[in-house]
Amino acid sequence: MENFDVIVVGGGPGGYVAAIRAGQLGLKTACIDAWTNKEGGMSLGGTCLNVGCIPSKAMLDASEKYEMIQHLDDVGITVDGVKLDLGKMVAKKESVVTKLTGGIGFLMKKNKVTTLHGYGRFVRKDGDNYVLAVGDQEVSAKHVIVATGSAPRELPIAPFDGDKIVENAGALAFSEVPKRLGVIGAGVIGLELGSVWRRLGAEVTVLEAMPAFLAAADQDVAKEALKEFKKQGLDLHLGVKIDKVDASGAGVAISYVEGDAAQTLQVDKLIVAIGRVPYTKGLGAEAVGLKLSDRGFIEVDAHLRTNLPNVYAVGDVVGGAMLAHKAEEEGIAVAELIAGQAGHVNYDVVPWVIYTSPEIAWVGATEQTLKEKGVAYKAGKFPFAANGRALGHNDTRGFIKVLSDAKTDKLLGVHMIGPNVSELVAEAVAHMEYGGSAEDLGRTIHAHPTLSEVLKEASLGANKMAIHA
Ligand code: FAD
Ligand code: NAI
Repeated sequence: MENFDVIVVGGGPGGYVAAIRAGQLGLKTACIDAWTNKEGGMSLGGTCLNVGCIPSKAMLDASEKYEMIQHLDDVGITVDGVKLDLGKMVAKKESVVTKLTGGIGFLMKKNKVTTLHGYGRFVRKDGDNYVLAVGDQEVSAKHVIVATGSAPRELPIAPFDGDKIVENAGALAFSEVPKRLGVIGAGVIGLELGSVWRRLGAEVTVLEAMPAFLAAADQDVAKEALKEFKKQGLDLHLGVKIDKVDASGAGVAISYVEGDAAQTLQVDKLIVAIGRVPYTKGLGAEAVGLKLSDRGFIEVDAHLRTNLPNVYAVGDVVGGAMLAHKAEEEGIAVAELIAGQAGHVNYDVVPWVIYTSPEIAWVGATEQTLKEKGVAYKAGKFPFAANGRALGHNDTRGFIKVLSDAKTDKLLGVHMIGPNVSELVAEAVAHMEYGGSAEDLGRTIHAHPTLSEVLKEASLGANKMAIHA
């Protein structure tokens, strides 16, 4: 039986990054991952690379181009005869996935990480070492990092059937554009994938249980987003209770209650995107007594240590923000802790991005949470409509809002809706990571003309110093 310093179970963003970092730090490392591609081979990268972040962004970008090219009259470009070749678009998305998952395989080799394809399960503890099985093979290590990720949450009255009622993987692989598409859940997946299929021609209806739209976002941003999405033709219904979902006919019939009124919706395909649940099936947690919470997450302390000595867990399977970059940082922190370094994740500055059009991005506290907590703050807000680059770019939707401490001016939260804000938020994250103030950000020189000047002006605005407001 081969013995390693570290075995990582799961090759998604949490696991593969942990394995690479452990390899870099000179630890003899193995990474076990179960994901299988169409050819039956290993496909590292987990949910994110195979059926999540990467393919969804490929489809968002392609569908945005398709929509945009039909609306360029404004800037003096008329394009006739635009045609959609969905097969080609999906194939391109798949080629991006293949390239990236293959790239991870290359990085693993480069960092001397042994990769094992299959489900890894704890078998027993043998002295200081944990023994895990992958198929018939047994391997052991003193340290184990569990990074088994998450799976889509199923709605019991609408089980996934891989055809008419689908989760993210199915929704990224429709062979034709559904005429009528239903989406249950106006969360990140519902809005991103709903946008993709609307741009490609589907009539999209989104049914959301919560009365508030994007409750976790700053409500100023959420309000603006709701207005924009409705304008685009996403038929959004909030505060809805789904009663019945019937897929026995040609399409899917959904009965729901909105307000006091009973409603029905008939669609060709239904995406259910109501959150994700931790994935620990087949891990053999019980064989070694690895503790899970009531909700199935692996319980960890502030250093990502589980209840078992030298067993850590990272990423979606431990809960918190279910984001690839959060999983990656946790993976790096744990590899460094195992190597005797001071690994650490600053959860206060995890950025969120929703890749719709306009994009939505934020970091830190929202205005509503500051109010709830009674924190005194200053706010600066600047619209893209007053920015030269945005005007030239022909996209002036949205704004940036900067929140800073009323006394110290320390940045507390930055909230964005508008063009390219997925990239602009990184600057706010960096300033917050270093404990910067709104004035620091506002006095930082920004190239002109750039969209980033909106962030500068909003930051100046928090101290009533905005120039172009
Ligand atoms: P995962 O990526 O789920 O990886 C876990 C891996 O472990 C999988 O390969 C799985 O097969 C494997 N595994 C499970 N059990 C075992 C076992 N016992 N043995 C061996 N292998 C096992 N996040 C962002 O930050 N940005 C985005 O734009 C974004 N877009 C998304 C879009 C969609 C449609 C979805 C569904 C998610 C998106 N996410 C995004 C979330 C992101 O994908 C996850 O937060 C991230 O993948 C979590 O990484 P992870 O390593 O914890 O788990
Ligand atoms: P989500 O948590 O973002 O949204 C789920 C939505 O479904 C919520 O608004 C919730 O109120 C609603 N809901 C729950 N039960 C419902 C019901 N019975 N009927 C109607 N609505 C119901 O979850 P989602 O969209 O499934 O995405 C899962 C996770 O994946 C996200 O939370 C995020 O962590 C990650 N992700 C990140 C992306 C990004 O960073 N851009 C993109 C896509 C996913």
